Amino acid sequence: MVQSPQSQLVSLDLSQPLWERFFSVAPLVVIGTKEPETDYDLAPKHMAMPLGWENYFGFVCTPRHRTYQNVRREKTFTVSFPRPEQIVLASLGAAPRCDDNSKPALAALPTFPASVIDGVFLQDAYLFLECQLDQIVDGFGENSLIVGKIVAAHIQPEALRVSDGDDQDLLLKAPLLAYLPPGRYAKIDCSFSFPFHTGFKQ
Ligand SMILES: Cc1cc2nc3c(=O)[nH]c(=O)nc-3n(C[C@H](O)[C@H](O)[C@H](O)COP(=O)(O)O)c2cc1C
Repeated sequence: MVQSPQSQLVSLDLSQPLWERFFSVAPLVVIGTKEPETDYDLAPKHMAMPLGWENYFGFVCTPRHRTYQNVRREKTFTVSFPRPEQIVLASLGAAPRCDDNSKPALAALPTFPASVIDGVFLQDAYLFLECQLDQIVDGFGENSLIVGKIVAAHIQPEALRVSDGDDQDLLLKAPLLAYLPPGRYAKIDCSFSFPFHTGFKQ
């Protein structure tokens, strides 16, 4: 009997953490929120993406994190898209908190203020979104989806696509940062045109 190639597949044990068994591609953003007093929090998130083609942006966060609590209270957040060379800064945002709940590592992160909402961005990132909370959907196990409406957006000139520009050239000059869970990252400066079917419509 000829064995089907499918019989080589390894079925994964769903009682173990599934997403640790292989690599996938994700963005890496830094979410900025306002702390209860005067400070601001910055924390990296990779489960983050636009929700549709209109101006919505969402990320997954556990209610245990200050990010979640801050967004629920203040109803705003910022999103900074770091460059590959800012990977250590992005990681510092996930440094543990002290007993008094402070996160001293944040002092190493250079920031600048948002323009429309009360928030800060990671300096020298390439794309910046200011978001007003739209909704929080709880209940994905212990995680929640936080969705914001983008009320302002800013971009570094070298990362901005222009009609007569070369897209590959743009990525060479302004490479993207990808997170490859679990625990690796990549600098993307080489890409290929997508082979869209003739007549393809969005
Ligand atoms: C590379 C990386 C990606 C992360 N992605 C997420 C994520 O998508 N969702 C999440 O809830 N936490 C994620 N975390 C963890 C938190 O952002 C992190 O623990 C942070 O310290 C929480 O801080 P806070 O209590 O100030 O919100 C990630 C951490 C790292 C290092």
